[in-house]
Amino acid sequence: MDTIGRVAGKVALVTGAASGIGAAIAERLSEEGASVVLADINAEAGEALAAKLRGAGRSAVYEQLDVTSEADWQRVVHDALGVFGGLDILVNCAGVATGGQELLHHDFANWRRTLAINLDGVFLGLRHGGAAIVANGGGAIVNISSVASKAAVVRGAAYCASKAGVAQLTKVAALEWAPLGVRVNSVHPGYVETPLVEALISQAPDAAAMRAVAISRHPIGRLGLPEEIANAVLFFASDEAGFATGAELLVDGGYALP
Ligand SMILES: NC(=O)c1ccc[n+]([C@@H]2O[C@H](COP(=O)([O-])OP(=O)(O)OC[C@H]3O[C@@H](n4cnc5c(N)ncnc54)[C@H](O)[C@@H]3O)[C@@H](O)[C@H]2O)c1
Repeated sequence: MDTIGRVAGKVALVTGAASGIGAAIAERLSEEGASVVLADINAEAGEALAAKLRGAGRSAVYEQLDVTSEADWQRVVHDALGVFGGLDILVNCAGVATGGQELLHHDFANWRRTLAINLDGVFLGLRHGGAAIVANGGGAIVNISSVASKAAVVRGAAYCASKAGVAQLTKVAALEWAPLGVRVNSVHPGYVETPLVEALISQAPDAAAMRAVAISRHPIGRLGLPEEIANAVLFFASDEAGFATGAELLVDGGYALP
């Protein structure tokens, strides 16, 4: 992949950066010149990726962040400002695909947990990370929603509702913060080859059949790669997207077309 310093000199905070799509986003932003705060609950994997980026001569730190904890957000943003002197880019990527229950028997605690991580976590990211970007004079925020914000999925009540919430929350932030120089956009992946999707597939009674069904829902004929989502995020994070705010970009292999 060619690198041309699309986000050179910027400071980026990426949640869920220890695995899958978030890790690919952190790497891509780093390759393109950003100093990156990798925030996650998985310290081992997060520290390892931050060390790998530093080993490549880049600027990166790991921060322990549970996106559902307001105190964690306050600490992490404070630390990021202390280490790098400002914040320009926020990517709210941390998420879980819990749920997986039919509505008639849906467990309320399961619903609450999914909404807490996938939606409250983005709200707190905006409230604290977003506020720091506003205070810095402007920047870009990218929220990771899902094609499941558009296409309903059986047993997906909590996940689909959380991701639709992220899409609309993105638009409110975009509207309120456009005059303040902060662009806020959402990226909506189809199924992407990550540990999250691997777990969903491997839990099915017939994993091979489940994988084939998942692939068949994507007219492109395969699942996506984390790097393909990271490239879309990089676009919104960079000045190349200077006139884009409140936009939803489906990167879903055509899943939502039918
Ligand atoms: N993989 C897909 O097919 C797909 C499709 C559409 C949307 N998404 C979304 O992309 C995002 C990343 O998914 P992924 O597939 O890379 O998953 P993943 O499981 O590989 O990575 C998720 C990361 O989020 C972290 N995390 C979980 N709970 C957290 C919390 N409370 N606080 C901080 N970090 C937490 C995990 O430790 C992990 O590192 C999620 O928001 C997911 O909903 C994924």
